[in-house]
Order: sequence, then structure tokens, then C-alpha cells
Amino acid sequence: MTRKKIFAANWKMNNMTAEVATFFGAIGDSCVALKDREVIVTPSFPYLAQAAALAKGKNITLAAQNFHFEENGAFTGEVSLTMLADLGIRTVLIGHSERRHVMGESHEHLRKKVAFAQKKGFRTIFCIGETLAQREKGELFAVIDMQLSSAFDGNLTCPPEDMVIAYEPVWAIGTGVNATGAQAQEMHDYVRKFMDKHYGRKDITILYGGSVKPDNVKELMTMPDIDGALVGGASLKADSFSKLIFWDR
Ligand code: PGA
Repeated sequence: MTRKKIFAANWKMNNMTAEVATFFGAIGDSCVALKDREVIVTPSFPYLAQAAALAKGKNITLAAQNFHFEENGAFTGEVSLTMLADLGIRTVLIGHSERRHVMGESHEHLRKKVAFAQKKGFRTIFCIGETLAQREKGELFAVIDMQLSSAFDGNLTCPPEDMVIAYEPVWAIGTGVNATGAQAQEMHDYVRKFMDKHYGRKDITILYGGSVKPDNVKELMTMPDIDGALVGGASLKADSFSKLIFWDR
């Protein structure tokens, strides 16, 4: 089966009113006719409504960078899935390395988020990836096994298209040092086999993330098990993000 490619912009804590307007103005109608790939943008929370209005009719999906796994209540600073649904959003990131390592989200916390997103009918982009120290110690595959099993064992109930994995080696995020096509392919192949063996999800969409740029996108996207990219720095401006979306044109 051919898996639809996904190009997702992870804006993190960047881009405000003016930049959001400039981005959507510059991207214009370029994605409207796209059928073989999906374009996703994740603005910061204060700009989601603005972006949702600007993205209308542009064939661009909006997603959220974070949410809390409770319905509502006394969770100062948090955003619920009901609020996101209210804005027409149904795709969320979970497990990004900055949430794991900077915000301290544990395996258990991420497992709850995965469960709640599925319960509420959201699509998840679940991020996994090893640190440089883990790779150098030869723990690469054990780390990935742990991240996948702790989130999914007995907990993967959504339709296949609603669980997307993003392999993002921590050492490649924001560093300008991307995994080579061969390194990424090795892990994507491993993840695909793992998801097939344990969960019967051979055709799961697997994105690569970590310093994807116009000059390395082709090497990565031509690998058989890489189904798209989750992009930070190079997604902030429409011109470089467009070069990634349309890497083969
Ligand atoms: P980067 O970030 O493209 O700036 O390396 C990727 C990510 O954090 O998702």
C-alpha cells in the first residue's frame, strides 16, 4: 500500500501574529490540490484560532503541540482536548523530546495522553528517539522498544490512520546534524517491524524529524520507510517549508 506522506511543521514556541499571517499569506493556495501528501502546522496555543481562520480552504491541517489528559478542571496552564475540538483541531503531538526531557513528561504521563487522545477520537503524532549517549552506548533499539511499549501495550485502540509515529533522534533536533538517510531508514524499518509484530500495524505512517532542511530532504524522503517529516526550524517560514513539502518537484 502507498502511505500518504505527511509534512508537519512543529513551530514550538515561535511565530506570533505577524509571522503567522505572513506564513499563511506566503503559502497561499499552493497546497490546495495536494492529494498524495498532507501538510500539518502546529502553532502555539495563542495563535491557533488565528491560524485556523487563515488555513481555511488551504488544505492545511492544524494540530496542537500539547494538551492535558483530563477532561477539564483545576489544571492551571493546561489546554483540554475539548477546547481543541472546539477550534476544529483533532491532531496532537505527544512525546516530543522537549516534552520528555525539558518538561519531564514520564512514560506513564505519555501513556495517559495516548489513551486520552484515542478516547476522544484524536489523531496522534507520537514522537520517539534516543539521545546521543544512548546511541553511543548501544542502547538505541532498547530505548525505542521501551518508548513504544510503555505508550502502546494494551493501549493502542485507535484506527490505523490515527496513530502516526515520528522518529526524532534527540541529537538531531535543532542541531543542524540530521540522521543520514541510512541511519533513519534503519530505525524506520525497525519501528515498522516492531509495530507489525506487536500491534499488527505494518502500514503505520512513520515520519522522520531532526534538522530536516531543503538540502537533505531528498536523501531522507527517498528512503522506503520514511513517510514524511516533522520539521522545526525549517518550518517557521513558508519558503523553506514549501521546499520540504514539494521536495520532489
Ligand atoms: P528541527 O526540530 O527540525 O528544528 O530539528 C524538529 C522537531 O523538534 O520536531
